[in-house]
Amino acid sequence: MLMKKLLAVSLLAALAFAQDHAALRQAMKTAGSSFGSLRKSVDAKDGAATADAAEKLASVFPAVRAHFEEHKMQDGIDFASTAEKSLKALAEAAKAGDWDKASAELKTIGGTCQGCHAAHREKLPDGTYKMK
Ligand code: HEC
Repeated sequence: MLMKKLLAVSLLAALAFAQDHAALRQAMKTAGSSFGSLRKSVDAKDGAATADAAEKLASVFPAVRAHFEEHKMQDGIDFASTAEKSLKALAEAAKAGDWDKASAELKTIGGTCQGCHAAHREKLPDGTYKMK
């Protein structure tokens, strides 16, 4: 009886972890495609498209931050917070037509992608990634 309970609990925990991880992966797939659009629209100085892409990208980072909070990884939490803040600032700059500020924010955002990937992303032999 106790064994069964323990088994059920650990199964649930494993399931929760897998779901949580799937959420991170989904967030990152969205991040990858939105960041591509964002770069192009900043290059083209397209205010509406930039604000759109930046807002879409900003919306994935609360889930990313929550994931790193669960794993108690402070640097990851900081990268995710900076990315979200900077994306919101980029959206505002694009709406205001301030392209110097927009470019500066884009650099900060790119730095958070690279910084977090260097610290927490591992490439597997089959070309997919996992968190480390
Ligand atoms: C707080 C940490 C963190 C930040 C910030 C972050 N990433 Fe990631 N990213 C990860 C981790 C961890 C993985 C590996 C996840 C996995 O698949 O297990 C990943 C995976 C990815 C992948 C591969 C997804 C796939 O499986 O196909 C892409 C693309 C990606 N990130 C893009 C970005 C972009 C673009 C940014 C910045 C706008 C960004 N990431 C910011 C942590 C982060």
